[in-house]
Amino acid sequence: MKIVSEISKFAIIFKIKVRHKRYLGLIRHIKEFDKRAKSYSTNNYIQKQIVDDLLNFDSRVHQKILDIGCGNGLIRQNLKFTPELFIGIDASSKMLEIHPVFDDVKLINKNFDDTSIYEEFIGDIDMIYSSSALQWSKHLNNTLQKIQKFKNFALAIHTDNTFKELRQTLKTDTFLPSLQNIKDSLYRNVKYEVKTYQIEFENNQDLLKYIKNTGISSGQKKLTTRDLREFLTKNNKKYLKFEVLFIKDI
Ligand SMILES: C[S@@+](CC[C@H](N)C(=O)[O-])C[C@H]1O[C@@H](n2cnc3c(N)ncnc32)[C@H](O)[C@@H]1O
Repeated sequence: MKIVSEISKFAIIFKIKVRHKRYLGLIRHIKEFDKRAKSYSTNNYIQKQIVDDLLNFDSRVHQKILDIGCGNGLIRQNLKFTPELFIGIDASSKMLEIHPVFDDVKLINKNFDDTSIYEEFIGDIDMIYSSSALQWSKHLNNTLQKIQKFKNFALAIHTDNTFKELRQTLKTDTFLPSLQNIKDSLYRNVKYEVKTYQIEFENNQDLLKYIKNTGISSGQKKLTTRDLREFLTKNNKKYLKFEVLFIKDI
């Protein structure tokens, strides 16, 4: 009896530690978005292109919209119509501070992995958009299950082929999801498309400045000074490639 109770105590402590670690992981990347919110807006060329492509990929008109990881509002700014209600959710309060506040806009500062969000809005929302954000999910499979309960959705998610060369140079792993991971989480009939984007830089310093200013890191742990020094000596490719999966319900 005594041993069983010891084991269960250990299990409880272990669970708390794991949750705490996940929470810290979320805070770390959100802190980065908070810190870089202003420079993100002037360096987000690729994210702008992705939003344009997403809104062309799915150009249906909807009245009640939820934008997951809305950031500084690229989706709302680029909608070709004015909806009745546009709810933007983002964990970075600094990104939300620079989101446009039109009459239809309501902003919520929350973690998009929090499943209560989807339960709260399931009856009221016609369309879910998300662009360049869900790759940060700590529970992508779960979050995608919740999103697919909504009638309509159009998502742009970065895959692990993003910044592949950078990671190969540094021999590091990524938390970004693979195409297969994402596809395995889909149970609805969907249309999908994979696109690759490339930004070229004059030199390595500009490339690193871009990574820093957009707060996007390389889909891995934060780069250390040692990583950066190693990268500067080894890298001879002055470009960054992004791979994005576009998904919409059909
Ligand atoms: C690269 S930005 C994209 C913003 C916007 N959708 C766009 O296309 O420009 C990613 C956004 O996702 C938000 N984000 C990342 N993880 C999140 C989470 N777990 N919950 C809520 N927001 C999150 C970040 O704060 C950031 O604003």
